[in-house]
Amino acid sequence: MIPDSFKQDLLNRVDIVDIVERYVPLKKSGTNLSACCPFHSEKTPSFTVSPTKQFYHCFGCQASGNAITFVMEYQGLGYVEAVRELAESVGMTLPEFQPSKKEAQLRDEGPDLTAALERAAAFYREQLKASPKAIDYLKGRGLTGQIAARFGIGYAPDDWQGLQKPFPDYAKDKSLVDSGLVIQNEEGRRYDRFRDRVMFPILNQRGAVIGFGGRVIGAGEPKYLNSPETPLFEKGRELYGLSQARIPIRESGRVIVVEGYMDVVALAQHGVGYAVATLGTATSATHVSKLLRQTDEVVFCFDGDAAGRRAAWHALEVCLPLLADRKTMRFLFLPPEHDPDSFVREHGKDMFEAKLREAWPLSKFMLEELKSRVDTATPEGRARLVHEAKPLLKQIATPVMQFQMLKEIAHISNMQLEAVAAECGIALRGSRPSARHFTGPEGRANGGQGAEQRPYQEKGSLSPERRRARAFLRYALLVPSLAEKVPEEVLDGQSPEAKVLTLMVRHIAEKDLTATRDLLDWLHEQPEAELARSLSEEIMGTTFADNDIEVEFNKALEQIEEFRYENQIRELEAKDKREGLSSDEARTYQSLILEKIRLQEQRKAPRPVV
Ligand code: GTP
Ligand code: MN
Repeated sequence: MIPDSFKQDLLNRVDIVDIVERYVPLKKSGTNLSACCPFHSEKTPSFTVSPTKQFYHCFGCQASGNAITFVMEYQGLGYVEAVRELAESVGMTLPEFQPSKKEAQLRDEGPDLTAALERAAAFYREQLKASPKAIDYLKGRGLTGQIAARFGIGYAPDDWQGLQKPFPDYAKDKSLVDSGLVIQNEEGRRYDRFRDRVMFPILNQRGAVIGFGGRVIGAGEPKYLNSPETPLFEKGRELYGLSQARIPIRESGRVIVVEGYMDVVALAQHGVGYAVATLGTATSATHVSKLLRQTDEVVFCFDGDAAGRRAAWHALEVCLPLLADRKTMRFLFLPPEHDPDSFVREHGKDMFEAKLREAWPLSKFMLEELKSRVDTATPEGRARLVHEAKPLLKQIATPVMQFQMLKEIAHISNMQLEAVAAECGIALRGSRPSARHFTGPEGRANGGQGAEQRPYQEKGSLSPERRRARAFLRYALLVPSLAEKVPEEVLDGQSPEAKVLTLMVRHIAEKDLTATRDLLDWLHEQPEAELARSLSEEIMGTTFADNDIEVEFNKALEQIEEFRYENQIRELEAKDKREGLSSDEARTYQSLILEKIRLQEQRKAPRPVV
């Protein structure tokens, strides 16, 4: 664990504007700065950085956080790595702490492994220049030197100890074995893992080499040899080509996931730069989440054969829980004789992109596949369909999409919607217990853009208590010194807003906080992620001065006082009807009425301008 005090020091030391500007050019926009969001693709800037709050927020994709989160998200780093990177950039050193095993490995071996892999990659690139056979092979597959260079493609010579050249300490150097470049047999003899292969370096998001894929030249087994997993290289997390595809993904607004190294490289060769490949493993949730952070549309394009279809179905299953409004996932099935490489080579970019436009939405793939598994002409088949659909429907993360798919399944299976929902254990929208599950209007799941309604933002649908708690959350966030004046009855509630507010008031008092930025940090660490996001959004949009906020806050206090009187008045009126009032009570009643009128008058009166 990194001590909290260090984190605070670090956040005080760095300026989020500098940090973001290292990667994204910012333009002044009122008191804030803005840019096109680096976390999703867009044409008009909705990514906002507040120098005073030391926070960023994207009004388009709701990404938000502080300087540390930004580095984590932008560079794909873990928390510790991001803190270290930021700290080093301002000359601070991370205090000693108990690192986890993996971090320890990374720290002890990480730099060496990276250096070894980089050195090997440079060697392989050199060797490619010297190998007419490898050059011919790549040319034969339609690649130019330019694309080979962009992907850092190289050649591992046909030599058992080829790496001896760049690594004079070949027999001893531990990093050679640990990085998977060299294999050591039982007698302790070492030899190169990759021999006589075309080498594809695998880069992480920062562009550092973390492994290799090596292809035999021509026929041979195994066709591809990949680096083993190391502390730096985890196949289920990494995507081949992502580093090179970053800008094309941003420009095109989408990413294509393919199966092979050569598919990525060939697509890039033909001008389709926004493709990445899984590394001989199935698509994982980590893969998809990583891509969804960068773009709104993911198209899976697997080989046209049965194996490709299975891989696509697996990807669909991975995607269901990750579905989100405004995110689109689609599936492109090429003719069975083709993979993306052969297709783009034969038909070119335009045909490929035309195919891409025809790619099936996830919903269609799901329904077509389910239908193909049963005979919908028979009652048994239709019952089976519902049975097969059940686990999938339950996984769908957005209620609108879930509802749409329920409707489709009900239609195909010739059942009532309610019956299918009950069979699948899915509560229909109207009967949902909480507003958490509310989602925007229909159709959003297919990539609709624009100001979207989010559960906590949907102020109109919140109960008056929640709305009030939310308003006070805003005040206390904007001007933390107001927190101590938040009335008890607002803190009392059971709503998520009231609970967070209570915690926040306590936190402000305990830490004696005065700055919005510290609170935003804290807020983002709370489990109510959705609330944190939508509040940051409002906060970032607030341009009022502290004074104005205080005025608003006092108005809200007065209103609550008025409610208080109103409640007491109502109670007394009820009692009067039931059993009549004592003379004391009658007097209280009168003074309450007067107090209430006084407050109302006061609220109506124009405020003196100071
Ligand atoms: P070519 O076009 O024949 O060069 O290959 P490809 O890029 O089309 O790859 P293919 O569709 O044959 O395989 C997809 C991916 O699976 C490859 O990019 C590798 O990551 C992985 N793969 C393929 N063959 C092997 C193999 O023999 N061993 C291992 N470990 N992985 C393989
Ligand atoms: Mn291929």
